[in-house]
This record gives sequence, structure tokens and C-alpha cells, in this order.
Amino acid sequence: MSSSTTPSNDAQFPSADPMEILFTRQQIADRVQALGDQISREYAGQSVLLIGVLKGAAIFLSDLARAIKVDNSFDFVAVSSYGRARVSSGAVKLIKDIDNPIEGKHVILVEDILDTGLTLSYLRGLMLQHKPASLKIATCLDKAERRLVPIEADYVAFQIPNRFVIGYGMDYAEHYRNLPDIRLFPEELAGH
Ligand code: IMP
Repeated sequence: MSSSTTPSNDAQFPSADPMEILFTRQQIADRVQALGDQISREYAGQSVLLIGVLKGAAIFLSDLARAIKVDNSFDFVAVSSYGRARVSSGAVKLIKDIDNPIEGKHVILVEDILDTGLTLSYLRGLMLQHKPASLKIATCLDKAERRLVPIEADYVAFQIPNRFVIGYGMDYAEHYRNLPDIRLFPEELAGH
């Protein structure tokens, strides 16, 4: 089941209703549960610390955390983002650090989209300096063809082509994060 959005008065952010659905909320829920089951098996008897990358991963993390049966806690980091531009400047800056030490912990970095890989490469390097017991990466979407640096996720909900998407935490200029389905954002509106 998909849902409607109320048309916005701001012409820049039109209703998402006509935008093509790439993955429905049910498809997303099924994949997140499958990842949760896999993580529960792989970390049986252990505790997992999920570290979400704000803001995009907040919704994926909250669903994933509840799909994981083993003991887990979560934290968040924030990095400088693309803003309205689709192409990264390549510079990633930490805006919010983790709240608690991660040394000796089993950490899973949780991201909304693995795109060029710059964000997660930077965060992975940063986290490894703190000596976690293990470090893995979970991403809701993987745009493998856009990769600029070699990095792969251990847990991927969906592989997607090189298209701009919104919904399920993912934004266009901070809008549309609340959409329950993942939709293709029209190229002509993306302004790139
Ligand atoms: P990268 O892997 O460092 O290039 O950056 C990944 C980040 O770029 C993601 O966490 C998103 O915030 C953002 N991003 C990349 N592609 C999209 C998209 O299609 N929609 C919304 N945000 C995107």
C-alpha cells in the first residue's frame, strides 16, 4: 500500500504522488526484515551497536534496529552533506560525533544510500581509529555504478541504478524524507 502526500504550496516541492515508486513500503519492510534476520544470525549471543548517519539513515535505522533480535543499541553521527547538489564536493566533514566510546564493540554503520562512497570511507576510517571489535556497513540503497572510492556494504537492502531517489528518510533539499515508499525524483526537477 502506498500513500498520498498533500500537495505543497511551494512549487519547488510538488506532491510526490505522480512520482514513480521504486520500492513500496511493503517491499522495504520485507528487505529490512531479511537483513535483520541475517544480522541476528551473524551476531547471535553478542551485542550490536548501530551507528546511523543523520539524517537520511534515521528511518532505516529505526526499522532495522527493531528487526534485529540480538541486543542492540544505537548512536548517530552527522556529516556535511550534498545539500541541493547531486555531485559531491568530495569533502566530508564531521558535524556530530558519536556520544559514547566504541572500543571493543561490534559496530554496524547504517547509511541510507551508498553512492560515491566518500561519506562511508571517511566514517569507516574514523571509526576504525577507535578500535571497535568489528565494523560492518549496512545501507538501504546501493548505487554501485556511482562509486568513486572502493567500498562495499556488508548488508544492502536494494541495489539501484544511477537515479535520484526520495522517501524513507531520503531527501531532496530536506523535503520528502517522510514518504513511506522510495520514489524516483524527476530528473527535470533535480536541477543538475
Ligand atoms: P556518498 O556515498 O558519499 O556519495 O554519499 C551518500 C549520501 O549522498 C547519502 O547518504 C545521501 O545523503 C546522499 N545521496 C546520494 N544519492 C542520493 C539520492 O538519490 N537521494 C537522496 N540523497 C542521496
